[in-house]
Amino acid sequence: MTERGRLEASAAPAAGSLLLRCRGLAQSFAAVRALRGVDFSIAAGKVRGLVGENGAGKSTLAKIIAGVHTPDTGTIDIEGRPVRFTGAEQALAQRIVTVHQDINLVQTMSVAENLLLNNEPTYGFGIIRRKTMRAAAQRLLEKYEIGVDPDDDVGSLPNDLKKMVQIVKAVSLEPKILILDEPTSSLTDAQVRVALRLIRQLASQGVGLVLISHYLAEIFEVCDDLTVMRDGEVVADGPVNATTLPQVVAAMVGRDVETSRRAAQPGRASAVPLMTVENLTAPGLLQDVSFTLARGEVLGVTGLAGSGLSELSRAVFGASGRQASGRVLIDGKPVPPADPAASLEAGIALLTNDRLREGILPDFTLIENICLPILSRFGRIGGALDFTAMERTAERNIERLRVHAPSAFALARQLSGGNQQKVLFAKWLETKPKAFVMDEPTIGVDVGAKEEIRKIIDEIARAGVGILLVTTELDELVLLCDRVLVMFRGAIIGELWGGEIDRETILRASACGEIRAVAA
Ligand SMILES: Nc1ncnc2c1ncn2[C@@H]1O[C@H](COP(=O)(O)OP(=O)(O)O)[C@@H](O)[C@H]1O
Ligand SMILES: [Mg+2]
Repeated sequence: MTERGRLEASAAPAAGSLLLRCRGLAQSFAAVRALRGVDFSIAAGKVRGLVGENGAGKSTLAKIIAGVHTPDTGTIDIEGRPVRFTGAEQALAQRIVTVHQDINLVQTMSVAENLLLNNEPTYGFGIIRRKTMRAAAQRLLEKYEIGVDPDDDVGSLPNDLKKMVQIVKAVSLEPKILILDEPTSSLTDAQVRVALRLIRQLASQGVGLVLISHYLAEIFEVCDDLTVMRDGEVVADGPVNATTLPQVVAAMVGRDVETSRRAAQPGRASAVPLMTVENLTAPGLLQDVSFTLARGEVLGVTGLAGSGLSELSRAVFGASGRQASGRVLIDGKPVPPADPAASLEAGIALLTNDRLREGILPDFTLIENICLPILSRFGRIGGALDFTAMERTAERNIERLRVHAPSAFALARQLSGGNQQKVLFAKWLETKPKAFVMDEPTIGVDVGAKEEIRKIIDEIARAGVGILLVTTELDELVLLCDRVLVMFRGAIIGELWGGEIDRETILRASACGEIRAVAA
């Protein structure tokens, strides 16, 4: 018998025996040290939770174990034998299967093809048996209670079902180690139950699992052990039943760097709100969201990925992709619904979180990028645009927002991410918004640019604009916000004021779905 055969014939490894051990893993991406000496282990029949704030290094660790990245330094042993993966297929060959955070299905193929890709039944010579494949896919979908037709194109499915297909595909590969990177954030409550049950079931069959999740309730429900990461390091590690939720949250946020909040603006909560949002609802995404925003106020909105943050920012601007209901009023006057142009007209601006796809025009000059929404202002009799005035407008903004660019004629693509973001700020500020909705305004920009953009947000608020700051960055909330709304699965579950706005309280509320859920 071959060694492989013997391994498969033998019973599952004894529960608790080590399947995988990493020591001293380090990984840098240019100047970013994503991992700085991480020790980590996965045991048979156990579920290990992996938690940490955004950017802590969780996905990087998952990708190293999955063979996607080869670490700069450090070692990995599988059942005591050292391995060094230089590709994902090598990890797969060891039956280490990963459900990555991003959906990595082939959008243009059917569910059946995706489920059995690289695993297709053939007649020999690689001819795929379509009927067999379809039937196998059907069986898998039924077994895991996923209401999807195997012939549907994956691209046509909503994100929750795509994620379920991704999970089922992973399980169908019969993993020895299964790593799930934030699998539940795009799932419905019922699907979360299915996924968690599946996780326990696989563990009982001897699979070693890793669950990366921000939902600490899930972690405490299904995990045996827990690893907490912060800034690329493991800061806590041990059995789940030996720790408490407040301890985990404290380990995640670490000792607070003294952050100085912006000085409160007196008279903020003036009698008449600038913007009133009433009962915004989008099926499955937003549940009856209501709040008010005052002139000069910075109102934070936060929650976990998948809690409805982007959906809220779009719905307020009338750009919700799905059927949204509810009302938005500016200065007491209703804004026509589902009409971004009318929202702009009423004084609402939206900075989306996808700078590259929906914001910046990379091949256009800064002048064009900044003046686009207000072109009508530069029209002259006879139809030609007043280019000199456009140039002056762009230059005024470049100076005011301290955009580092060779000139107003530079193409947007020549700028760094942070400077592109400032150009988008300029573009929306030129529409003279009363209420400025910002979805993750400092996403993907370097530390220096983050600080500058935060200063700009403060300046805009001081000039009297009401700001709805939608962000998952805890520091940003603490530094900038007068009030913070916390969302959980599409609903606002609470509001924090002034001194209550600290990293630990926000994180705990976001992760548990309750403000003051647990006494520290
Ligand atoms: N491919 C990459 N290129 C550059 N930086 C990266 C890459 N992947 C991750 N990073 C950076 O490494 C750090 C850790 O990221 P990640 O592992 O995704 O964290 P987490 O999953 O805990 O949110 C972050 O600062 C992130 O920006
Ligand atoms: Mg991640």
